[in-house]
Amino acid sequence: MGIRARDRKAEGTMDIRRIHTPVMLDRCVELLAPALQNDGAVLVDATLGMGGHAEAFLERLPNIRLVGLDRDTDALRIAGERLARFGDRVTLVHTVYDAIGEHAKGASGILFDLGVSSLQLDEAERGFAYAKDAPLDMRMDQSSGVTAAEVLATYSEGQLRRIFERYGEEKLAGRYARAIVQARAQAPLERSGRLVEVLQEATPAAVQRAGHPAKRVFQALRIEVNRELNVLADAIPAAMGALTVGGRIVVMSYQSLEDRLVKQAFAAASASTAPAGLPVELPEHAPRFRTLTKGAEMADEAERAANPRAIPVRLRAAERVRDDQRSAAR
Ligand SMILES: C[S@@+](CC[C@H](N)C(=O)[O-])C[C@H]1O[C@@H](n2cnc3c(N)ncnc32)[C@H](O)[C@@H]1O
Repeated sequence: MGIRARDRKAEGTMDIRRIHTPVMLDRCVELLAPALQNDGAVLVDATLGMGGHAEAFLERLPNIRLVGLDRDTDALRIAGERLARFGDRVTLVHTVYDAIGEHAKGASGILFDLGVSSLQLDEAERGFAYAKDAPLDMRMDQSSGVTAAEVLATYSEGQLRRIFERYGEEKLAGRYARAIVQARAQAPLERSGRLVEVLQEATPAAVQRAGHPAKRVFQALRIEVNRELNVLADAIPAAMGALTVGGRIVVMSYQSLEDRLVKQAFAAASASTAPAGLPVELPEHAPRFRTLTKGAEMADEAERAANPRAIPVRLRAAERVRDDQRSAAR
C-alpha cells in the first residue's frame, strides 16, 4: 500500500545530504528526462534509499510524479521526510522490488540504484560492514527473512563454499567455508568481528589479497541473505515490461554479477526475435527496446575522486520502442 510522503512526521536531524551523494546523478537525469516530459509522467525509483536521486528528479522536473520503492523501512522513513515538501507528487511503497511490475505499470521512467545504501553501511549494528563489529544481521528488510548469522549457523560447508564462490567470486571459498564450520563447532558466529577473525586466521600469509580478506565473504552473505540476484533477475524484465512505449530505464550496478544480469536482460529485449533466415523482419519480431548506452558507462574521474561509492558503478540504460507482441496485435 502506498504511503503519502506528506503524511510523514518531520523528525531527526541527520544530515542525509552529507552521508550520501547520489551516484551519476546528472547522467541519470539526462538519460531519463526525455521520457518524462509529459505532465504527470511517472518515474519509479525502485531503490529509493535516502531519496537523493528522487529529490533531484522532483526538483529538476516539476511536472513528474514519483513512486519510490524500498524494502528498508528506515530508508523509507528518512526519504519520506526529505521528500515531504513535494506533497502528493510522491508515493512511497514498502516492498521488495520484484513486485515492480505492479507498481510501475504505465511508468515513463524507472531507476535502479542497486546495492546497499550508505545509511545501511553506516548503521554499524546492521552488520553489513566488516570494518565494524556488530551482530551479523545484514537484512535490508529487518522485518523478515533469515540473518547472516543464521546462514553461517545452518548452511553446510558445501553450501557456504558455493555462495562464497558464486556471489563473492572468492578464490579461497573452500578454505573459508571449512574454517567457518570448524569455528561454529566451538561457538556460534554471531558477530562480524568474530567472522573477520576466523577469515583472517584462515588466510595464508603468502596469499596476496586485493582488499580486505573478508570483503568478498561479506558481499556473498549480503547477496544470499537478501536474495539479491534472484530478485534482480525477476525485477529487471518485470520493470521493462511495465514501461510505456518511449519509456526509459536506467540501472546502476556495483558488482559484476548484477551488471551481467542487467546486460543480459537489455540484450534480450533489444534483439530481434526473427527466426534466422527470414528475408524480412516481421513487425512482431522487431526488438522491444533499444539500448541508450554503449556497453556500461562508468563515473568520470572527478566523481570517482570525490565519491568512493562511484568507483565500481556500471550504468546501463534502455528505451522501450514498441509494445509487446500481444498488445501490438490487438
Ligand atoms: C544504493 S541505495 C539507493 C540510494 C538512492 N538512490 C539515493 O540517492 O539515496 C539502494 C537502496 O535499495 C534498497 N534495495 C536493495 N535491494 C532492494 C530490493 N530487492 N527491493 C527493494 N529495495 C531494495 C536498499 O534498501 C537501499 O535503500
